[in-house]
Amino acid sequence: MPALLTYAPEDTAELGRKLGGLLLAGDLICLIGELGAGKTSFAQGVARGLGVEGQVRSPSFTLIHEYYGRLPLYHLDLYRLNDPSELEDLGYEEYFYGDGVALVEWADRVREVLPEERLDIYIDRLAEDEDCRKLKLAPRGERYRRLVEELMDVACAGNRNCDTGCFGSRGI
Ligand SMILES: Nc1ncnc2c1ncn2[C@@H]1O[C@H](COP(=O)(O)OP(=O)(O)OP(=O)(O)O)[C@@H](O)[C@H]1O
Ligand SMILES: [Mg+2]
Repeated sequence: MPALLTYAPEDTAELGRKLGGLLLAGDLICLIGELGAGKTSFAQGVARGLGVEGQVRSPSFTLIHEYYGRLPLYHLDLYRLNDPSELEDLGYEEYFYGDGVALVEWADRVREVLPEERLDIYIDRLAEDEDCRKLKLAPRGERYRRLVEELMDVACAGNRNCDTGCFGSRGI
């Protein structure tokens, strides 16, 4: 599974921005990681990469925010979801199978209703450095395998440390 390390929130966002530049209508990006892992930092970058202007915050109290860039971005944060059935009340199919990009924080809470084809991104802290994050890219389906290849190409362009998995300020 391809993985990249970042050493600052800006680098995690920059990786998100690069992914945002590659996304197509109908894409689904699932972020999985503990509190404070960096899911929202990554999501903010994706929004930038899609050309969304203005502030992007975690939509914890509303479960979903919509933004408009070159494509609609449906940003879901399921931290406060009590039961997967609440997702049905939200009309999630419109977001997962719609004409925009869906990005889901805490996607592991609704695994049973997620479409099979998607990009799962696991974000983990590494014990040795409090600002280090490991982002593991787990594509499900052909579209997402290609997307991960494209992202690795873009992320590694000009980054001589990429074969050690470093991305961002310490990796260049
Ligand atoms: N390499 C890094 N990448 C991302 N965030 C980092 C990194 N190093 C430190 N941080 C810090 O970790 C925190 C990440 O917060 P963020 O809101 O992005 O996480 P989250 O996974 O969305 O959390 P929550 O589950 O509460 O929504 C921020 O305080 C950020 O400054
Ligand atoms: Mg968040």
